[in-house]
Amino acid sequence: MRAQTIYIPKDAAAVSVGADDVAAAIATEAERRRLSVEIVRTGSRGLLWLEPLVEVSLPEGRVAYGPVSVADVPSLFDTGFLSAANHRLALGFTEEIPYLKNQERLTFARCGVIDPLSVDDYLAHGGMAGVKRARDMTPAEICAEVRESGLRGRGGAGFPTGIKWQTVLDADADQKFICCNADEGDSGTFADRMIMEGDPFALIEGMTIAAFAVGATQGYIYVRSEYPHAIATLREAIAIAERKGWLGDGLHGTDREFHLDVRVGAGAYICGEETSMLESLEGRRGQVRSKPPLPALEGLFGQPTVVNNVLSLTTVPVILAKGADFYRDLGVGRSRGTQPFQLAGNVKRGGLVEKAFGVTLHDLLYEFGGGTATGRPIRAVQTGGPLGAYVPPSLFDTPEDYEAFAAQDALVGHGGIVVFDDSVDMAKQARFALEFCALESCGKCTPCRIGSQRGVEVMDRIIAGDRRNENLALLNDLCELLTDGSLCAMGGLTPLPVQSALKHFPEDFGLARPTEKIAS
Ligand SMILES: Cc1cc2nc3c(=O)[nH]c(=O)nc-3n(C[C@H](O)[C@H](O)[C@H](O)COP(=O)(O)O)c2cc1C
Ligand code: SF4
Repeated sequence: MRAQTIYIPKDAAAVSVGADDVAAAIATEAERRRLSVEIVRTGSRGLLWLEPLVEVSLPEGRVAYGPVSVADVPSLFDTGFLSAANHRLALGFTEEIPYLKNQERLTFARCGVIDPLSVDDYLAHGGMAGVKRARDMTPAEICAEVRESGLRGRGGAGFPTGIKWQTVLDADADQKFICCNADEGDSGTFADRMIMEGDPFALIEGMTIAAFAVGATQGYIYVRSEYPHAIATLREAIAIAERKGWLGDGLHGTDREFHLDVRVGAGAYICGEETSMLESLEGRRGQVRSKPPLPALEGLFGQPTVVNNVLSLTTVPVILAKGADFYRDLGVGRSRGTQPFQLAGNVKRGGLVEKAFGVTLHDLLYEFGGGTATGRPIRAVQTGGPLGAYVPPSLFDTPEDYEAFAAQDALVGHGGIVVFDDSVDMAKQARFALEFCALESCGKCTPCRIGSQRGVEVMDRIIAGDRRNENLALLNDLCELLTDGSLCAMGGLTPLPVQSALKHFPEDFGLARPTEKIAS
């Protein structure tokens, strides 16, 4: 009798809520009942409120159950979950769950579907189609394809990836590097981790295409130490890829070489800033370098270096496989393709939502997120990480688009969306932004190192109602100083959450709300 396949994530988020125990309990129960099952550990589908999500393979597709606990396992078997049971945890066909069905998954197409370390699975689900095409293209053609796709860096700044690669290609040097920024420090973000754990060959493929495009022979993936599962999976995937000829000398049957290693960061938000990451990779304390020179010209060990986020690199294989036009046809304005959004904080259905740019915050928060977990009204969301603005409900119709967000003084950033209900105190959130900057500042420039600390003290006085107007004026001055005088975006963007909180929620600072215009 053929074993029936059961899929259970081994993603860190799923494991943190008991996926390993559920997998063990299902294996034991199947054995006890003399049922032949094969358990495949996958990445996560990103429906985090349903984790551990257990899927059973049927001829018509996979059916899902979740969230499954160890205590649920006997009743799942009793009701016949191996043939689509009418169990209270039954969710029907996985692909038909609206949260998943209504997404446009390209970067995350395989995540949660395949065994992350199975070469056969990767190939069977379209893996390596991108690099095979890139192998037969000239470096200039690869750069042009990525440029024409409209792909912009997903790490936060949104810089066009194809232009960055072209700069590295045009630089004259014997040694060039590809550095993947997997520091993922933004609040509420987990997409990089999910990909590294759930589809690591996609990142390897993307980095290999980048290597072909610019002529690099060595790559590094800089991962935060808080991601032990991702680190282990990547290391295993790299070893497999080397054995398969997907990395190393003569890769993919060419006479070219590309070597890849994982480097673990000790943990500092600023190590996600690209020049600080390069310092850390070189073995020094993560401190920001002045620009110019750009890392594309003088990066790691002074050599031309591509620095890209995990999502930017993981999206490249899809672009090469399906063509620049296919990707560029999705999205709005100058924000092309799809963005993996991450719903976090006080949200009912937290998880990963990959959608074409242009989706509104409203749809992400309500259609996908289902509102708050507490059931209270949403009062604010912070988009774009700890340095991003607090967005009030009156702006929820803003489409996800770098320019549309910038017009509202907000950031798309890495796609993180952190939800707050109406119990939030926005003055305390503003204080938190300044405190975060004071704690995480690399210390290189005075406005950020000292200004953020003074900002915390000023905020404390405002919260205490001490000479409020004077202190608010001082806070404004400090924000201006941070914006204009900081060497990097850490200090430069810290005023964004502070000023957005003040602008949209003045009542939390003891100020009157400006009288709203009444439509005539
Ligand atoms: C304080 C700070 C933290 C950052 N953290 C990250 C990070 O964790 N991951 C990331 O990819 N980019 C981060 N960035 C952006 C990087 O400096 C850089 O723009 C990015 O890695 C380039 O890749 P991309 O073009 O693919 O986005 C950060 C920037 C700043 C200023
Ligand atoms: S702004 Fe802050 S983090 Fe950036 S270089 Fe200056 S001190 Fe360092």
